[in-house]
This record gives sequence, structure tokens and C-alpha cells, in this order.
Amino acid sequence: MTSDIRSTTQPPVMTDPNVPDWVNLSLPETWADRLCFRSVAGLLKFARLVLGKPQKVQVDSSDPLFADIPKYALQEFHNLPNGNYSSQISRGYITGFDVSMLGQIQAARRAMAQRVAHCNAVLDIGTGGGKLAAQVRAAGPRDVWGIDVSPYLLKHAAADHPGVSYLQAPAEAMPFASGRFDGIVACFLFHELPPKYAAQALAECHRVLRPGGQLLIAEPSENQLQRVRLRSLLRRSGWRHLYFKTLARFVHEPFVMAWHKTDKPALFARSGFTLLEHTDEIPVNFYALRKD
Ligand SMILES: C[S@@+](CC[C@H](N)C(=O)[O-])C[C@H]1O[C@@H](n2cnc3c(N)ncnc32)[C@H](O)[C@@H]1O
Repeated sequence: MTSDIRSTTQPPVMTDPNVPDWVNLSLPETWADRLCFRSVAGLLKFARLVLGKPQKVQVDSSDPLFADIPKYALQEFHNLPNGNYSSQISRGYITGFDVSMLGQIQAARRAMAQRVAHCNAVLDIGTGGGKLAAQVRAAGPRDVWGIDVSPYLLKHAAADHPGVSYLQAPAEAMPFASGRFDGIVACFLFHELPPKYAAQALAECHRVLRPGGQLLIAEPSENQLQRVRLRSLLRRSGWRHLYFKTLARFVHEPFVMAWHKTDKPALFARSGFTLLEHTDEIPVNFYALRKD
């Protein structure tokens, strides 16, 4: 009798969602898949699109694959034709991101992976092409998950980096049980979220982490968008600083300024985290947090 009452009053135990077979899943072609890079005319068209005004992404919203993607994510981030919503352009983005960051982002991912090497269950939020999740898996943790909103990036991630469980889900509503993970990593995700959703994503991180679990966040350096005189900039930190500053000014990042203006230590504290470490170097601003 007593056990019956208990079973009806306790919250249901949430099991992990099924992981789609991304590699064999066929995704709908979008207009950006039809861009041709084998002719001068095609390359000029691509250049016009990249240099033009970013547009709303076109996807079939009646398709369940796109129905739950937050509206703010359906934009041409980084001036990419149709954003992260085509097989072709998202494939190019996975390589292009690392190249444009001059190898610095891969170094940041490696350092983050080492910090969660002792964990068993680790989640990579905004996993993109799965490079950070793969680094984490290689560092030791056996139960590694990656979530992202773009099915095209998830399909590439699953093909390139097996051994990680990939799910399509927004960071602000994660389909996992509370306390499911020992560690969470996020590389260049939070500056892509409007402030309200960044706060919700942090609340979700707090929920799905076990007490004492670590949240590691790498984001673009705040120095990149500060106004500094060119000569003092070059004297202080050289051409690399100038390069990343220029890149930051020209790439479409609709919420990056809001992220830079956010009082992060206050936000982290409100979300139930203790700030263990913070470094801000060009081009990566890094935070290590612990769930209280
Ligand atoms: C700059 S990319 C970084 C990708 C990856 N972390 C890396 O290191 O290469 C940001 C990623 O966040 C994803 N993203 C954007 N909004 C998201 C959200 N609300 N929830 C989960 N992922 C999101 C994008 O689709 C994209 O893959």
C-alpha cells in the first residue's frame, strides 16, 4: 500500500531519449544545397550572398525536423547562405569556422576536454559539427552527448565523430533527467542566444548537472568589440588582435553585443553556479563554473 502511494507521488524517472540514426537519415535539400561552386558565376553568387544583408532562413516549418527550432536560430548567422540549414553550407562551415579562428578554437576545445576527462557523462551543448564532443570522448568520458538545433550539423557530426550520442534539442529545453551529467561544455554557443534564452539555457544546465558538476563555457572575447585606436591595438596585441576584431565586426552575430553587455558573474550566480575561473584572451573568453 505504502509503496503504491510512493509510486504515484514521486516524479517519473526520465530516461534518455532515443538517438536518431543521423548518418542514414535523409535530410531535405534546401536552396543553399543548390549553390554551385564549380563556376565563376556560382562563386560570384556565393560572394554576393555572403556580403549581402543576412536573410531569414528558409525551411519547411511543417516538417517535424524544423518545427521546434527556436525562431531566433533561423537566421543567417555568420552570413552563411541559409545559415546552418543545408548539407552543403553547414559542411563548409564546420571547416571554415576553425580556419577563420586560426586554430585557436581547436586549442580551446582541447583544453576544455581535458578539464572533464575525469567525468563519466558529459554533454556538449551547441555541438555543431561535434568537434568538442569528440575531443571530450577521446579524453576519457564514456557517456558523451551532443545537442544542437541544426539537423544538418548533427548529421555531419554523427558521420565525422561516432561514439557520441547526438540529439536535436535547444539548450534552453533539454530532454534529459535532472542531475544526468557530471559535466557540460559549450563552445561559442551562448553569444548566439538572445539574453532571455541564454538565461534559460543556464537554468537548464543547472538542472541537468549533478551537484558539484562543472559547466565550461568558451565564448568570443569581449575585447574584440571594444573600440580601441588602431595604433594602440597593434602595439598591445599585434595583428592577431586586429584580425579577430575585424572578423567580429563583419560577421552577422545578432546577439553577440547583448552577450558582451551581460553581467556574466551576476548571471552565473543567479543561475546557481560558482565561478571557479575566468580568462579573457583574444579570441576566447573562458569560464569554468560549478553547480552549487
Ligand atoms: C558557433 S557554432 C559552435 C559549434 C561547436 N560548439 C564548435 O565548437 O564548433 C554554434 C552552434 O550552436 C548551435 N545553436 C544555436 N542556438 C542553439 C540552441 N538554442 N540550442 C542548441 N544549439 C544551438 C548552432 O546550430 C551551432 O551549431
